[in-house]
Amino acid sequence: MRSFVIAAMATTMLTTAATAADITIKFSHVTAESTPKGQMALKFEELVEERLPGRVDVEVFPSSQLYNDDASLPALIFDDIQLVAVSLSKFKKYTPSLQLFDLPFLFPDMAAVDRFQASPEGQELLDSLDGTGIVGLGYLHNGMKQLSANTPLIEPDDADGLKFRIQASDVLAAQFEALGGTPLKKPFSEVFVLLQTKAIDGQENTWSNIYSKKFHEVQEHITVTNHGVIDYLVASNEEFWNGMPDDVKPVVEEALQEAIGYGNALAQSIDDEGRVNVEASGYSTVHELTPEQRALWVEAMRPVWAQFEDEIGPELIAAAAQSSGS
Ligand code: LMR
Repeated sequence: MRSFVIAAMATTMLTTAATAADITIKFSHVTAESTPKGQMALKFEELVEERLPGRVDVEVFPSSQLYNDDASLPALIFDDIQLVAVSLSKFKKYTPSLQLFDLPFLFPDMAAVDRFQASPEGQELLDSLDGTGIVGLGYLHNGMKQLSANTPLIEPDDADGLKFRIQASDVLAAQFEALGGTPLKKPFSEVFVLLQTKAIDGQENTWSNIYSKKFHEVQEHITVTNHGVIDYLVASNEEFWNGMPDDVKPVVEEALQEAIGYGNALAQSIDDEGRVNVEASGYSTVHELTPEQRALWVEAMRPVWAQFEDEIGPELIAAAAQSSGS
């Protein structure tokens, strides 16, 4: 009987040890599966589960199913989730320097964003969350932002008096205030209903986000402004990430970098496709700006740089402007 009890205890301990060795990585994000972020997350899940079967389980929660972005960073710090890809516009509470990416008309296109992120200054920014419990692991692209509203936005004065939904960013608030608009910080998951009910007049986002969340169905006009960027910091809980066993961590890290590369390679075509789909849907009129009209938007928004120069750091802004040729 005694030996039976000992055998039973040993079995229980073995089972517990086997279960404890299994690692779950919960990856929570806010966009649709069809977006670059959605595709990157699914690729990461596929690669990790193929390479570490039964050892690591990746659970992806898209479309704010688990958390919206504001809640996901505290959830990451508390280790309720282990991976996020949060817009660089939403880190103000944790670091001032990532606000750089919100400066209007800093990057002319995604190639310029790429060049800056690959530079020593750009790579250093990945560590800007050190000490917060969050570890920055890489940059993931979405695309350039366009402006939409229910009235045509052709010149900056057209935005005067309108309410715009923005991400949780003081720079973006200043950008719309510079136009005479009223910015409202709201979660991505609420934008469609806010537009549908006309609680807000407009918003700014990428083609793939506009199309996949159906914003174009409740916005009569979209202007091709490419005035800013939506890009993400892929990040984990520092203790979790660095605490993964030695035989697991390098495999997960490699899979993550491959998945980021995969998402980044797809980003431009997904965004282009979003535009084609929006135009084909016939819901909204898409407006192209003349060079003169575009110059007026630059002139109206550009003073925002000076407002945030001290917080972000003039050297950093200069380095980004140089990689952009802006
Ligand atoms: C937004 O809130 O508009 C974006 O940050 C959503 C996203 O993750 O692309």
